[in-house]
Amino acid sequence: MRVAVVGGTGRVGRPLVEALRRGGHDVVVAARSTGADVVTGRGLDGALRGCAAVVDASGPSWLSTRRARDLEGFFAAAADRVGDAAARGGAQHLVVLSAVGVDRLSGPPLLAGKRAQEERARRAPLRTTVVRATPPHEAGADVAALTREGDGAVVPPLLVQPLAVADLAAELARVAVGPPRGLLEVAGPRTEDLVDMARRTLSARREPLELRASWRGTPFGVEAAGEVLLPGPGAVLTPTTFDSWLLDAWVPA
Ligand SMILES: NC(=O)c1ccc[n+]([C@@H]2O[C@H](COP(=O)([O-])OP(=O)(O)OC[C@H]3O[C@@H](n4cnc5c(N)ncnc54)[C@H](OP(=O)(O)O)[C@@H]3O)[C@@H](O)[C@H]2O)c1
Repeated sequence: MRVAVVGGTGRVGRPLVEALRRGGHDVVVAARSTGADVVTGRGLDGALRGCAAVVDASGPSWLSTRRARDLEGFFAAAADRVGDAAARGGAQHLVVLSAVGVDRLSGPPLLAGKRAQEERARRAPLRTTVVRATPPHEAGADVAALTREGDGAVVPPLLVQPLAVADLAAELARVAVGPPRGLLEVAGPRTEDLVDMARRTLSARREPLELRASWRGTPFGVEAAGEVLLPGPGAVLTPTTFDSWLLDAWVPA
């Protein structure tokens, strides 16, 4: 099957392209670096023409923006442009990568962007599957990088059920070549605490940083406490635990 991966050069997109190719599919990579832009629409028609399925795994560099307005603008434009170009190109299935918690939390900018993307994708002129995924195992260290000031960083005390990006990619590949499913949650196998994840990841990478647990100065407010960011009972659970992922992140002394 010919499948396009929009954002196919990113953290999720790259292993997704590999998983689809391993499955014998003909994969088109669409990103700005290959001449396709989801915000302006430039190059999208050419890239998506003749693809039976399109997966949108694009996203702005989230370290470069923390403002909900910017993220909503990016994801709304991406959903409109990718949906229209996919339908014009003859695709029968659009898969959109979203985030668990998008229906329960309005504050965090990334979730505001993902909600805008889901709303637009549902109006796209072809059948869709929205895959709501939990954060990756890298999320603790990612948030520390986002809030870092000098030798310190702040990480919110979130409960999450993180997953390995390779597992998410394998699940997205299965979904892309199957029939449209509407809505699906994908999560890692265990609940973890984001502050603990950040500490252990930075220690494994030998990146000394003084971490402080707080809601203040982070993209998450106290409304994200408790179980709001955990998946529902019907979620597909992926196999790789945070502990086993961390073994690969370890940098020898
Ligand atoms: N990481 C996870 O486990 C996870 C979990 C839940 C949801 N998600 C969602 O998955 C998406 C991708 O995440 P990621 O971690 O893979 O991000 P990433 O590593 O930053 O990759 C982003 C991708 O989007 C492309 N891109 C950026 N701006 C573009 C534009 N204007 N037009 C076309 N392509 C553009 C980038 O390529 P170019 O720079 O070459 O354009 C790159 O291929 C995001 O929407 C994120 O919210 C990720």
